[in-house]
Amino acid sequence: MSLLVESAPVEAAIGRTPLVPLRRLGGRGAPVLVKLEGRNPGGSVKDRPALWIVQAAERRGLLRPGVRLLDASSGNTGIAYAMLCAAKGYGCEICVPATASEERKKLLRGYGAEVVITDGAEGSDGAIREARRRAAADPDRYYYADQYNNPENVRAHFEGTGVEIWEETRGRVTHFVAGLGTSGTFTGVGRRLRRCRHGVRLIAVQPDSAFHGIEGLKHMETALVPGIYDAALADATVLVRTEDAQEMAVRLAREEGLLAGPSSGANVVAALEVAAALTPAELVVTVLPDGGERYLSEVWWETNGSR
Ligand SMILES: Cc1ncc(COP(=O)(O)O)c(C=O)c1O
Repeated sequence: MSLLVESAPVEAAIGRTPLVPLRRLGGRGAPVLVKLEGRNPGGSVKDRPALWIVQAAERRGLLRPGVRLLDASSGNTGIAYAMLCAAKGYGCEICVPATASEERKKLLRGYGAEVVITDGAEGSDGAIREARRRAAADPDRYYYADQYNNPENVRAHFEGTGVEIWEETRGRVTHFVAGLGTSGTFTGVGRRLRRCRHGVRLIAVQPDSAFHGIEGLKHMETALVPGIYDAALADATVLVRTEDAQEMAVRLAREEGLLAGPSSGANVVAALEVAAALTPAELVVTVLPDGGERYLSEVWWETNGSR
């Protein structure tokens, strides 16, 4: 079935985020540039895959009036879907682990989505299992977007974020560093950059343990591994402790004026570590996946003190 789909104004605001240098935190070895994904209209990098997933489903007639979009999300993709569904008039149902921040649950409801809270101890995997169960129980009611296995997730970054980074650095990027959640960002950007520059180094970031507090990231060894994950792509992996990611998020705010979340902190910890071993002729790029507003009520903002 072919549908003529009208685009919503908010779609045009997704992507083309600023790429800015770290001035005070960086300085050793190679320069580090960070892409401010919190500047997307839904507040995170996940606006990009959500847009590609929604548009592809519309083109294929899978998402249409009367069908509800369903997925599991630790929060950000859900917020992106909720924003797009609100703009386009679709129902939206998101399975979210109880541990997701209160701000995120409120944002989802703010956009009019139905929020299904799943066992916090099971993390994002519990939310995925619940979404699968719902989709299987009532397939006609839902379009199950399945961000963990949907190739549009990778495509959004291959055609969008990766191209932007290549163009914005005028082809000078030599190292790309990013944390793995669904792995869409790392895989899509990584494949694009590798196509543009043969020797580009791709460094994945993971939490150092299964029980971590870096929202949005997965510890692949112990998690439900996403279907889109390409274990052969990374040249290296940096493991980051939750406390170090949180402390770096606070330092980003206090020393660079960049209010970002803990996965941004993890990416910057890893990017600075990579950059320190390089020369000024090389160039490290990473992403700040979301802004810090969604975490301000969390205790680690207070305990990391002012500097
Ligand atoms: C805050 C945050 N950081 C990082 C990621 C990881 O991005 P990706 O799913 O593209 O691997 C996510 C994904 O949900 C996220 O919400």
